[in-house]
Amino acid sequence: MSRWGWPRLVVHRCGGALAPENTLAGLGIAARLGCVAVEFDVMLSGDGVPVLIHDETLDRVAGRPGQVFRLAADELLATDVGRCFHPAFNGETIPGLEAALLRCRQLGLSANLEIKPAAGFEVETGRVVGSFLAAAHSAGLPPLLLSSFSAQALEAAALEVEALPRAFLTTRFDAQALATARRLACVSLNLGRCDLQAAHVAAVRDAGLRTLVYTVNSPEEARRLAGWGVSGVFSDRPELLLPDCSVP
Ligand code: G3P
Ligand code: MG
Repeated sequence: MSRWGWPRLVVHRCGGALAPENTLAGLGIAARLGCVAVEFDVMLSGDGVPVLIHDETLDRVAGRPGQVFRLAADELLATDVGRCFHPAFNGETIPGLEAALLRCRQLGLSANLEIKPAAGFEVETGRVVGSFLAAAHSAGLPPLLLSSFSAQALEAAALEVEALPRAFLTTRFDAQALATARRLACVSLNLGRCDLQAAHVAAVRDAGLRTLVYTVNSPEEARRLAGWGVSGVFSDRPELLLPDCSVP
């Protein structure tokens, strides 16, 4: 497996706004646009299988009730999350982590795997994702960056797969978040864009870490953040940011 190469543009939830979120269709669109990195969210099914989904329930993406941590993987992997986005994506289903990583590898995409535990499953989710990655043949994995808003999940994953680079996620910069990122030996502190200041980026850099920022959809903002020293941005509008972010 090659190393995470700090791409300047990371497509949010696989295909951003151009595809149903956290789907293989989104990966295909990101690759066809010429993007080199994606982000996706990983949660455990009721029977402990890591799958790509952001919410703890199916309502928003599938238009039906159901709690992810109560449903078996077989049912989740057969759940249509394309139809609610647009009829053109009818039949697009929730992918498992294994399928998503394989597709990234096939498409030449680097992946920021965000561990997104359902409440109460932080340690278990981190442990399962970490052990899955540790057991995977490294030659078959795309370049990876692990991240999570949950320090517990990130720590549990790190115990299983120490060598993978990781990032602590937080909506707003503060000293405690930076301390947590350092305690977990993270390579990056990933921050929300709201209220972000150049001084925050400088503080992270002074601590020896990088910064990635979500969710940035305007080229002007992406340019300003790059000027502050931000290493890259997550975006739902890769088609708008790609021209700027392709320039080394
Ligand atoms: O990792 C960046 C971003 O994905 C974090 O927010 O809620 O979209 O997972 P969210
Ligand atoms: Mg995410």
